[in-house]
Amino acid sequence: MQHIILDTDPGVDDALAIALAVNSSGLKVEAVTTVNGNVGVDCCTRNLSLILGALGNTKVPIIAKGESQPLSVSPVDASHVHGSDGLGDVTRLCDSSGNRCYPDMPLPAVAACAVDVILTLVKRYPDQITLLCIGPLTNIAKAILTHPIEMKKTREIILMGGAFEVYGNVTVSAEFNVYADPHAAQVVFDSEIPITVVPLDVTHQVLLNAKQFEKMCIRHNGKWGRFLLDCTRSCFEFHCRYEGLDGFYLHDPVAVGYLEHPGFFDTVPAYVQVETVGELTRGRTVADLRSDRIDRPKPNAQVCVGINTGQFLGYFLDRIFAFA
Ligand code: RIB
Ligand code: CA
Repeated sequence: MQHIILDTDPGVDDALAIALAVNSSGLKVEAVTTVNGNVGVDCCTRNLSLILGALGNTKVPIIAKGESQPLSVSPVDASHVHGSDGLGDVTRLCDSSGNRCYPDMPLPAVAACAVDVILTLVKRYPDQITLLCIGPLTNIAKAILTHPIEMKKTREIILMGGAFEVYGNVTVSAEFNVYADPHAAQVVFDSEIPITVVPLDVTHQVLLNAKQFEKMCIRHNGKWGRFLLDCTRSCFEFHCRYEGLDGFYLHDPVAVGYLEHPGFFDTVPAYVQVETVGELTRGRTVADLRSDRIDRPKPNAQVCVGINTGQFLGYFLDRIFAFA
């Protein structure tokens, strides 16, 4: 059993990742912490309650709201992709009586500080907590900056982020989670905590097909199937309209997939740095991934460079409706 803290900025793909994680037999989600990212952190925290509600009020031991601002840069968001509410605008959907289809769900006591929750659990379970990070790394960086020695008791950090040998998805250079808080990402890579990076190099190999998924949601016509249909619709439309894709990439679920099935992936050790000052290259993850370099610096991370897309999609489609 892997004990994890899921740090997230829900987010449509985050919703899919949260469903996989909280319903996994091999993962014990000790806490879910939210962070400013796709949308503001208050909205992310509200979205978490909607997702858990749609999952049938799945219980998570601890929920904590995280940082509302990046360490240094001004906040950016991805509401153009994930909808103004961060969940495909499901909060605007009403039934024939005018009642919201997805009303806000009261969350159990939300801890006010994600950093405190992360530190408390890492200290309580030394060398056992895996931080699964699927949003900007602000919470993690703040925990490291304030308590660097205690945070070394983190078992591993698995982070969805970065782009090495592919274009970024915010600029040509940078992937969103790192772009949104590049200084936080650099703090994480400097932390000496074991890190595995799940970058666009692999997540851009996993496209969720819109038509296939829509049929599956309709077939699983329960509360969760309807929620998935409603919250993914605008994300599919965005990627079709602006990128000519017949689906969207499963960025965050791929990071959960690495945790559950590392055998689906190929990784290489690398020394990863983050561009924090470049205007055109802000948030670029820089590393030499060539294995034959004898003069390379000591690696600070494992970087996923390959994925068995068919195996992952089989796992994802089998599991994402398992609770419908
Ligand atoms: O670049 C993809 C990442 O940015 C995903 O985590 C998505 O949810 C957004 O946060
Ligand atoms: Ca995310």
